[in-house]
Amino acid sequence: MNPPLLKIDNLSVSFSVPGGTVNAVRDVNLEIGRGEILGLVGETGSGKTTVGKAVVRLLEPTSGAIAIDGVDITHLSRRSMRPYRRQIQMVFQDPYSSLNPRMSVEQLIAHPLAIHGIGGRSERVKLVREIVEKVGLSKAVLGRYPGEMSGGQRQRVGLARALVLSPALLVADEPVSALDVSVQAGILNLLVDLQQELGFSCLFITHDLGVAEHLCDRVAVMYLGEIVEIGRREEVLVHGEHPYTKSLLEAVPIPDPTIQRGRERATLPGDPPDPLSPPVGCALSPRCPLADLRCEQEHPSLMAMRSGQTTSEALLGGDDHMVRCHRIQEAGLLVGS
Ligand SMILES: Nc1ncnc2c1ncn2[C@@H]1O[C@H](COP(=O)(O)OP(=O)(O)O)[C@@H](O)[C@H]1O
Ligand SMILES: [Mg+2]
Repeated sequence: MNPPLLKIDNLSVSFSVPGGTVNAVRDVNLEIGRGEILGLVGETGSGKTTVGKAVVRLLEPTSGAIAIDGVDITHLSRRSMRPYRRQIQMVFQDPYSSLNPRMSVEQLIAHPLAIHGIGGRSERVKLVREIVEKVGLSKAVLGRYPGEMSGGQRQRVGLARALVLSPALLVADEPVSALDVSVQAGILNLLVDLQQELGFSCLFITHDLGVAEHLCDRVAVMYLGEIVEIGRREEVLVHGEHPYTKSLLEAVPIPDPTIQRGRERATLPGDPPDPLSPPVGCALSPRCPLADLRCEQEHPSLMAMRSGQTTSEALLGGDDHMVRCHRIQEAGLLVGS
């Protein structure tokens, strides 16, 4: 069998801060297949961006490994990393701060081609024009500067700049969160269309479950640096089992105000714990309605749901739905319980 396009093994990333160490990412395992969109969801501070930055090698992992196409890129030198840099591209939340305001759209999109030494001048002009059209911008914007465009247009430029290199993997970190709700759907639909046309895989980072629902094949939920639940989109976003996933799902606004009011009570009390002193046992235990003594004392591991336990699994027959929860394990829903 071919290796997955991206394989993350036991990734941990820590930061030294005044007062101690923040373990921003703790022992994360993830795989993304070719052409697959994996959503990484969770509240602010859960470690999503840190995972994304480690994958594009903007951050050095404290431990663990990242492999592309079966090749461990975790410790490659600058030079050996070069072909992989082209393969892994990132788009950021705020296209304004990630685009040089002094460069025209044409220069911005041509720049990565020049850096990677792709094509001659005329070939680059052609590639830039092709990708500009693919992201739904008119040729008229080529001479414009970031300050002269709307947020939605700028994010299209950000996408064009990443995709002009034909990457195998796109890491998209909250790409629509800074945009007006009215333009978010346009960018998300564009991303889905581009993925289908170009076939890249995508690590899609978002705090917004509605956004993940829109385009992800699989979803991983993070809490305090750990994955607490992972599975196919419906398994997690419809039949999510972890109490934290459930609280996130309950917090998604429902257009009907009567249902919305009924749901508000269900979200978890309190705030996420101080990352400098995380709970000993389950990270969620201080806030979890199901937590007992074991949850406070013993750290749970991520375990596969028994097949056929949820409607979605009965339908899909997958064993790729995993949950990190003692109480769900004790209820006999996890393999090994
Ligand atoms: N450069 C850094 N220095 C110190 N702490 C950091 C740094 N980057 C992130 N953190 C901390 O790591 C944790 C995870 O952050 P982040 O990955 O940005 O989460 P998310 O993207 O889910 O909001 C947070 O507690 C954050 O404060
Ligand atoms: Mg982030």
